[in-house]
This record gives sequence, C-alpha cells and structure tokens, in this order.
Amino acid sequence: MRDKIIVALDYDDPDEALELARRLEGRVGWMKVGLTLYAAGGRAVVEALKGAGFRVFVDLKLHDIPHQVRGAVRALAAQGADMLTVHASGGEAMLRAAVEAADEAGCGGHRPAIVAVTVLTSIDAAALAATGVARPPAEQAGLLAALAREAGCDGVVCSPQEAARMREALGPTAFVVTPGVRPAWAAADDQARIATPEAALAAGASHLVIGRPITAVPDPVAALERIVAGEETER
Ligand code: C5P
Repeated sequence: MRDKIIVALDYDDPDEALELARRLEGRVGWMKVGLTLYAAGGRAVVEALKGAGFRVFVDLKLHDIPHQVRGAVRALAAQGADMLTVHASGGEAMLRAAVEAADEAGCGGHRPAIVAVTVLTSIDAAALAATGVARPPAEQAGLLAALAREAGCDGVVCSPQEAARMREALGPTAFVVTPGVRPAWAAADDQARIATPEAALAAGASHLVIGRPITAVPDPVAALERIVAGEETER
C-alpha cells in the first residue's frame, strides 16, 4: 500500500513542501510535484525528494511539439523523475517522442514511466464541445487512452470512476493513476467524483494520488498511517 500512495505536494513554497516530505520519509513511496511546486522550486525540489529516498511523479502535463516534449522528458529524467505526465491530445507523434526519450534515458539506467492525461476532469461535455470535440468526455477519454497505448505510454491518469474501464482497455500491467481519492473519514474538499483508497484499488488503480487528506491536516503522519491501516484491515 505504501508504494501505491503518491502524496500531492501542492505548495507554492518549496520549503513547506520539503518539510512535509521530511515528516513522511520512510512511510510512503511517492511524492507528486505539480505545476505550482515545479514552477516555484524546479529541479532542486525533485532532486531533494529523490535524495530523501522518494520516487517522484513530476506532473507537468506536457503538451507541445514532439521536439520540445522529447527535450523536456530527457531533462526531467536526468533530474530523477520516476513518472511524468503528457497530454494524450498532443497526438501520436508527441506521445512517441516522450516514450522514446524515456527509453533513451532508460538505457543509461533510469527510465521514467510516461502516463497520459486523457480529458481533464475539469472539462465537461459543453467545454469539450467548445473545443470542437462533439464526442462525450468518457468516449473521448477512451479514444485518447487507446492512442496513448498505441504510442507506447505506460498508462493513464484518470478518475477512480474510470479506473475499471481503463484497466480493462489497457491490460494488467498498465499504470492507472487516480486522483480524487478520499478515505471515508476525510473531507471531500472540491473533489466531486471521489472514491475511497480501497474502492480505487479494487477498480484497478495502480497508484493513488492523495493530497489534502494528508497535507492539510494537523497530523499528516497519523493521516497517512490511517490510510495505510485501512487498506490492511480490508485484507
Ligand atoms: O488534495 P487532493 O487529494 O484533492 O489532491 C489531488 C491532486 O491530484 C492534486 O494535485 C490535483 O491537482 C490532482 N488532480 C486532480 N484531479 C485530476 C487530476 C489531477 O485532483 N483530474
């Protein structure tokens, strides 16, 4: 369970992020650095987290011409990133460039996993239609997941509600990374379509992104241990 939890370090102050990470050292496998923290702290944050023994998910949702994405994946792999996100809607050539750059990094030893974002959960049918895509969001997400698989991506990021469908479409070894995870005892915050850690794993998630239930409480260590124990008592 500890290796399946990714703590979302959604801070704009790198010192605050690293302080929280220090408190969780040895208790959880992964930390997530998103756009806000990366913009504030860059490679120094990634390297500090790696130095503390965490695996690091750098969630920058890359979407650019293939040449740019190849270069970004190469640089982030060299910083020690263990998992990276790209937008599947960037197209097959862009996705392949990301996978190739990861493979090249892997030849020297360290290959980051490339996971694809399909349709952002903040996008509803009307917002998608306004971008020229008439297909319903779930169908579009399925189509983009198939494209990501064809291009060699290691998996997808999706809501727990989509995890079962994605697991079925992508097979047993794919990464299925789900945010929107809330233990029964935690506040939903602004997440609307949530699942408990147990339900997300049962639906086929390989990794659970959990932020505020751990980071925005007085005792993050106790919160994490409660989540881990919840899963263990289910078994
Ligand atoms: O605090 P909370 O557990 O809601 O944090 C979830 C993390 O997952 C945040 O970093 C958020 O940006 C990210 N995320 C999400 N929903 C998505 C994709 C990413 O909540 N669809």
